[in-house]
Order: sequence, then C-alpha cells, then structure tokens
Amino acid sequence: MGHRVTLRVNGEQWDLDLDPAETLLEALRGRVGVKSPKVGCERGDCGSCTVLLNGQTVRSCLVLAVEADGAEITTLEGIGCEGLAPVQRALLEHNSFQCGFCAPGIVLSAVELLAAHPHPTRHQVQEALAGNLCRCTGYEPIIQAILAAGEEP
Ligand code: FES
Ligand code: FES
Repeated sequence: MGHRVTLRVNGEQWDLDLDPAETLLEALRGRVGVKSPKVGCERGDCGSCTVLLNGQTVRSCLVLAVEADGAEITTLEGIGCEGLAPVQRALLEHNSFQCGFCAPGIVLSAVELLAAHPHPTRHQVQEALAGNLCRCTGYEPIIQAILAAGEEP
C-alpha cells in the first residue's frame, strides 16, 4: 500500500504514491526523473546525493521521501535556470571538476553557503564542503572558485 506524498521539486508539484521505505534520492531519480542527485555510498558519507530541502542541504539517501512531504526541494536542475548561477560560472572558469560526479552536491552546498555568507572565508568554504567527497581534484580549484564567487559584488 503506497503512501500519498506531495513533493515540490524545482517549483513543480509531484503527487506520488510511494513505498514508505523509499528514499528521497530514489523518488527524485526514479519517479520525478531528476538525475543530478547521484547514487554514491547510499549511507550518508559522500554527499553526491545532496539536495536542498527547504533551503538546507540534506543527503537525500538518508531522507525518506515521506519525510519530505510538502517540502520544497531544489536539485541542480533548479539552480541557474536562466543560465548558470554565479557560483557555477566561477567553478567552470576555475576548471574545478574532473569527472564531475561530485559536482551537483558541491554546487548545492556552495549555494547554501553563499546564501548565508555571501563573502565566505576559506574556512567557511572548507566547512561547507566537509560533507562532499571529491576523489579527483584535491578540492583546491573548487575552494578557489567558491571564494571567487564570494568576491563578486
Ligand atoms: S549517496 Fe548519499 S551521501 Fe553518498
Ligand atoms: S571531480 Fe571527480 S569526484 Fe569530484
């Protein structure tokens, strides 16, 4: 027997019948069809499944979809709809990613950080990225890009 759940994803409403054990990550990818939240560790360690839930980052593999009933969810697809967001441009200009698997989660962590701290310190950037694993870059080009985005007027 499914549970009726309403998710608002990137401003669009989805009324879904879900298994109560279904994670938000599974619902987003399998039902809503957004593919930017990546399936990584599925136990809260890597941050590749990061989305914004009512403006705050969560690891969507650790949230049940029923817990997100009525919430506003933003995925990478909902960022910079009219062109790239400033932080995305900065990440691009700094060649911040290699394989890109971590990129959706890192962009959302950066968006949350810059909303709270428009001109973050290096320490704040490092703290904001603490839950997002990147296996390729050593983080420096990512940190530099987010700091550059924070220097924009
Ligand atoms: S897949 Fe969710 S934290 Fe790794
Ligand atoms: S660019 Fe490959 S995991 Fe970050």
